[in-house]
Amino acid sequence: MTEYERYLRTEELLALQKGPTERVCHDELAFQVVHQVEELWMKLALAELDRVPPLLDADRLIEAREIFQRVHVLMGLMGDQMRVLEAMSPRAYFTVRTALGRGSGQESPGFNALLACPPPLRASLKAALKRRGVKLLDLHRDPSAHPDLYGLTEAMVDFDEGFQRFRYRHLALVRRIIGGRTPSLKGAPAELLEHGVKQVFFPELWLVREALFRDFVPGPSLDGADDDPGGAH
Ligand code: HEM
Repeated sequence: MTEYERYLRTEELLALQKGPTERVCHDELAFQVVHQVEELWMKLALAELDRVPPLLDADRLIEAREIFQRVHVLMGLMGDQMRVLEAMSPRAYFTVRTALGRGSGQESPGFNALLACPPPLRASLKAALKRRGVKLLDLHRDPSAHPDLYGLTEAMVDFDEGFQRFRYRHLALVRRIIGGRTPSLKGAPAELLEHGVKQVFFPELWLVREALFRDFVPGPSLDGADDDPGGAH
């Protein structure tokens, strides 16, 4: 075994997929590889995000921002890699599905851990705003007053949007392969995934845009937009 193989444990890694005689069809390899790679990207994203709250709490905002930027790249890869499965026909997927038991993406450990990650990130952002004595809306009214803090919130928006895009691209793949109303292996129609596409990690960072809009176009309030979006006080 070469050093490369020993270090990367390629023997174990490449044994993690079914062999040619075990596969229910040719495309099962692509199906397994894409899912496994996505789990690895999510593992990496989570390890990165874990480092953010202590950095924010220590006012190391530039480093925290760089982490969000890196995670945003990972979200992009996760969405792009869905395309590998676009080449799989609906017919081939239904054959692969016979091998899945009742397994579902809803059971993805990486995805579920990502869904659980916003609370500490939001709390640390809120504390950072408070330490600076600035409200989110004022930060957006004058981004140049606190460029590091503003840059951080924009990187958080990038990450949030990247995750939404990943979910959208997954939904698009699901529609193309099984259609919107086909019940999933858990019995729910795939269209239910649409709710997930609308979810955001940092609602305050989206609401603040609506609140800012009111500075320029006064008018009837939009739901929630006039609440203090994660303000300092
Ligand atoms: C042929 C391709 C795919 C099909 C037909 C498909 C189908 C589905 C369906 C029908 C659901 C609805 C939930 C349920 O299972 O009951 C779902 C959920 C999910 N799938 Fe896929 N999927 C595919 C590929 C992927 C890939 C490559 C990933 C990689 C991460 C993935 C991750 C997920 C996740 C995380 C969920 C839960 C989403 C949520 O709750 O919003 N899926 N998938």
